[in-house]
Amino acid sequence: MFPLLAIETSCDETAAAVLGPGYQVLANVVRSQIDEHALFGGVVPELASRCHLESVGLVVDEALRVAGCTRDDLQAIAATRGPGLVGCLLVGLSYAQGLAIARGLPMLGVNHLEGHLLAPFAGSGEPLFPFLGLVVSGGHTELVLARDVGDYEVLGATRDDAAGEAFDKSARLLGLPYPGGVAVDRLAQTGNPQAFSLPRGMMHKGGFDFSFSGLKTSVWQHVQRCGVPSGSELNDFCASLQEAIVEVLVRKTRKAAAEFDVARVVVTGGVAANSRLRAAFVEAAQDEGWTLHRADMALCTDNAAMIGYVAALRMARGERSALDLDVRPGLGIAQASNHGLSVSS
Ligand code: KG4
Ligand code: ZN
Repeated sequence: MFPLLAIETSCDETAAAVLGPGYQVLANVVRSQIDEHALFGGVVPELASRCHLESVGLVVDEALRVAGCTRDDLQAIAATRGPGLVGCLLVGLSYAQGLAIARGLPMLGVNHLEGHLLAPFAGSGEPLFPFLGLVVSGGHTELVLARDVGDYEVLGATRDDAAGEAFDKSARLLGLPYPGGVAVDRLAQTGNPQAFSLPRGMMHKGGFDFSFSGLKTSVWQHVQRCGVPSGSELNDFCASLQEAIVEVLVRKTRKAAAEFDVARVVVTGGVAANSRLRAAFVEAAQDEGWTLHRADMALCTDNAAMIGYVAALRMARGERSALDLDVRPGLGIAQASNHGLSVSS
């Protein structure tokens, strides 16, 4: 199975990784399209697919160079099947299929959310189950009870905006550059999180579901009423906004961990790169006696190492995808095992 090449192109990062024996990450190369999309204040799907087309071959070459191998050495290929932008997914999956067919290699289509969920274990052997996973990214906010590879129960999810979207859309209203989460995190460092009172959506109701659209509306109303904050007020506003998002995420995770009696917690996805979220989860883990797993920064945001890791785990269990596998833009995490996979005997 190794070396295994993995490709990820579900949104605005063209990524390739090479994994070696023991699930070691030998190379993890990411080419971000942030500069291309920043001009438009968000990801433009058509532009993203074209950028992937231009970059995918170069990014794969770079990953192979870093890993010290060539296409001739490869033993298996993986690519993200979904969820994501359809045109973007098609670029990576088609590239992987072309390579697999040309070289006669086994191929696996991977669920991007499963990649995020298991990312904190990438590079360190098998994942440790059971655990409660909080997946927080630009498109998803989900609390997942993970019992085994492919055995995932979604306990709660956002009913409107994802946590990353709450950061990005609010940041846009504040005139901050894309991607907003990063800008808010930076400005919040010197701000007072208690300075502005912002709503905590569904904090005490809705089970384990989340809602962040009310927060965005509050930011909009504040800007309408008082204008865009500036100077130290902007720092305070960003700290307050960040606190409102983090507080709900931590509270619902605590509640779910208690209710389902799990003491192993995984926080993952692009928003897991947030410094306040990371600190708040360290505090919660100390209070609750959890073992906390957070991905390294490079594995939090979109990358192909997490895709390669899931593929390697599943291939080790005998799973393979058909070579004419199609993309699934709306794939859910509980459908992680529904990849058009077959298990070889
Ligand atoms: O996982 P990811 O790279 O892509 C998706 O699958 O969506 O997540 C991107 C999201 C964006 O919304 C971005 O603003 C957010 O992660 N993000 C952050 C930080 N770094 C990235 N949000 C808050 N604080 C950060 N430091
Ligand atoms: Zn992602």
